[in-house]
Amino acid sequence: MAEVEAAKTPKPAGGKGKGKGKKDVPLDNLYSRRDFFSYAGWASFMAALGLSSLYFLRLLFPRVLFEPSPVFKAGMPGDYTVGEVSTKWVKAQRVWIVRDDEGIYVIFALCTHLGCTPRWLRTENKYKCPCHGSGFTKQGINFEGPAPRALERLKIAVAPDGQLIIDKSKKFLYEKDEWGKPEAKLKM
Ligand code: FES
Repeated sequence: MAEVEAAKTPKPAGGKGKGKGKKDVPLDNLYSRRDFFSYAGWASFMAALGLSSLYFLRLLFPRVLFEPSPVFKAGMPGDYTVGEVSTKWVKAQRVWIVRDDEGIYVIFALCTHLGCTPRWLRTENKYKCPCHGSGFTKQGINFEGPAPRALERLKIAVAPDGQLIIDKSKKFLYEKDEWGKPEAKLKM
């Protein structure tokens, strides 16, 4: 009976190739293909969701540049000899510590021309910039070359433990008559 029904069923129009191809697709393959597209769709959706969540989280934590503290301890006042320029902190902190008869002050080792690091020339008793030849006295005043102004001095104080504490964020400018301020020099 079933064979008779099959024989009566008209063949699909469109030629033998098309109809035959559709009819021959195994059911298992059809489902697995559907599953594949379904999974792929979900995977794309989840990936998009994950990326947008990451982007949102990124907005919550803006890029912050963590810079080293401008404050550092420079040892005990007794570590510095009267009449000397200490170059001990030039490499790590870019400062010279100078002690004279009155006290201790700190000079920022940054040339006021274009920002190179001058060198302390002990025998010539001056700071000399290797870039364009500016020269500064032991106190930091410009006297030769293109530097337009004196070197800057930095805040100095004594910490509770007795050590010198230097704050590079606080500067004192000669041209503004700030070198006489109490924090610009530690009286000894
Ligand atoms: S940067 Fe020092 S003289 Fe030019």
